[in-house]
Amino acid sequence: MDTGKFYVTTPIYYVNDRPHIGHAYTTILADVLARFHRSLGDNTFFLTGTDEHGQKVEKAAAKNNMDPQVHCDETVVRFQELWKKLGITNDKFIRTTQDFHKKVVQTILQELYDRGEIYRAEYTGWYCVGDERFFTEKDLVDGKCPECGREVTAIQESNYFFKMGQYRDWLVDYIKTHPDFILPEFRANETLGFLRQELGDLCISRPKSRLAWGIELPFDKDYVCYVWFDALINYISGVGYLQDADNFAKWWPASCQLIGKDILTTHSVYWPTMLKAMGLPMPKTIFAHGWWLTGNTKMSKSLGNVVDPMAMIERAGVDAFRYFLLSEMTLGNDANFSEETFISRYNSDLANDLGNFVSRVNKLVLRATNGPVPAPGKLEPEDEELLATVRDAAEKMAASLSNMKLDSGIASVLGAVRAGNRYMEKCAPWVLAKEGKTERLHTVLYCSAELLRQVAVLLEPVMPEKMAQLGRILGYAQGELGAISDLAKKESDLAGRIMTETDPLFPRILVEEKACEAAPAPKKEKQAKKEEKPVNLITIDDFFKAELKTAKILAAEAVPEADKLLKLQIDVGGVPRQIVAGIAKSYTPESLIGRTIVIVANLQPARIRGIDSCGMLLAAKAGKELKLVTVDGEIASGASVG
Ligand code: MSP
Repeated sequence: MDTGKFYVTTPIYYVNDRPHIGHAYTTILADVLARFHRSLGDNTFFLTGTDEHGQKVEKAAAKNNMDPQVHCDETVVRFQELWKKLGITNDKFIRTTQDFHKKVVQTILQELYDRGEIYRAEYTGWYCVGDERFFTEKDLVDGKCPECGREVTAIQESNYFFKMGQYRDWLVDYIKTHPDFILPEFRANETLGFLRQELGDLCISRPKSRLAWGIELPFDKDYVCYVWFDALINYISGVGYLQDADNFAKWWPASCQLIGKDILTTHSVYWPTMLKAMGLPMPKTIFAHGWWLTGNTKMSKSLGNVVDPMAMIERAGVDAFRYFLLSEMTLGNDANFSEETFISRYNSDLANDLGNFVSRVNKLVLRATNGPVPAPGKLEPEDEELLATVRDAAEKMAASLSNMKLDSGIASVLGAVRAGNRYMEKCAPWVLAKEGKTERLHTVLYCSAELLRQVAVLLEPVMPEKMAQLGRILGYAQGELGAISDLAKKESDLAGRIMTETDPLFPRILVEEKACEAAPAPKKEKQAKKEEKPVNLITIDDFFKAELKTAKILAAEAVPEADKLLKLQIDVGGVPRQIVAGIAKSYTPESLIGRTIVIVANLQPARIRGIDSCGMLLAAKAGKELKLVTVDGEIASGASVG
């Protein structure tokens, strides 16, 4: 990425589409990149908007008996409101029906026409209304549209063409010599594959007799401009091209143009050749991400399998939704959306790892000092190690931005949180408190809270609201937490901040329980329900809320692709149950059969790696060594322990 400046764009969405997770994803991804770059101190501009001309819009408006512009004005609100709801921080929202954009398109068309880059000719071919694209006979697959498989219409008419074909060799060479131009690399190769055949000229007009809803060609009033030629220009008209030279020079070329893989050719072939003809520099990177699938099929309105972002937001909040989309998709590849993966990632990363750590630190600090984050004493090696983990995560996060591997950057921050949980277990501040080792207690609490402060800064671009809330828990007013660029530069100002008591940051989403006492076979997809109380430090009274019981292991087996987990069928007082336990490194399945163990019988059920677990066994752990808690001699299963 260019240092100091970052200009990011999304495709402009067809205005009359109903926004779904696919659209939301590209926009959230752009937003997260923009927020990261702002936080790193880069001058940032983020453009998104809507594509409002063309046959689809004209047809939809006609169907509703509406003027197309009125139709656009009504439907655009769906995108604008959703972006607001999702916390999108675009600097500009461009609509291709805005006057300034139409003027820029017309000026470009006139200039290219005057220079002989656009000419008129007779056209015979095939047209796909859905994709608004022309195809030659040889492009068709089984006589249908090669892009979407829909019927195509034979067309013969006089039209205007942009001399795209002449730029083929230049484009091939440009792609080969600029490895960051089209990413991921396999998309560059796909484009080069496309360019192996002859590159035709691009039909950039539509006769008004067939389609009137578009930008009129300045040199022929009987035609409007082809919607893609008009739409691609938004990326430069949106930052001042032909209107504000300084602004344009400030932002163009774009640093990162995000697209879905469905619109690769228009962006990797049409767009660069258009820019070349205009004499403008190429964007630094065009990045094509994969699709969100449902049940392994692309989400689309016509297939009726779209996931409505609002439903997911209502379930877990905007930030959890943003977090899920960003952490679940490895950029460039497809990802499958299911409610089950959403809830399971939420519960494991956010409710368990991060949420619980916040709760623990919060409670322990309040108990130790009544509010102020204590100043640390002398740092021990394990303290240094913990702080190094989060510094390392910050570096990985920054690297993941430049190589577009955001999911791995986020994973390293969560790795630091898990290290925090382990650190707490190891240092056992509750024991330090009991033993009156105040200086050590303060150091451990400080280091834990400092880890949280840095995590809040690092994850702010992904979860702005929740991380601001975490900042407030740590005693920072809105906007005081600082930016990523401050982390390495400034001394921490955490000690002495007043922590306040808080509700769980990420209340666990409870998967509806089916009677645990019933047959333990894996169950089908379930509904998420009410919240479960977080696991915090407990008093002796709290301790007795746990129902500990003996259980007999009836069967045990490994969990595929999870080297630590075993799936156990157990008997609790004559009632069968299934639990999943992380003991595979210490026990073979065979060695467990027939043993009597101790379980927490009234633990909320959970789904671990897609397997239901109704309860938890107890085990003692010291370093890598793990031993099951058992009973001293024979006793019936289901006996209470306590
Ligand atoms: N209007 C054109 C783009 C013109 S850009 C100059 C268009 N619009 S669209 O409404 O169909 O949106 C396309 C973009 O939405 C995709 O490129 C992608 O970024 C996003 N997605 C739409 N469906 C998607 C998925 N199922 N999964 C991920 N993203 C997808 O094409």
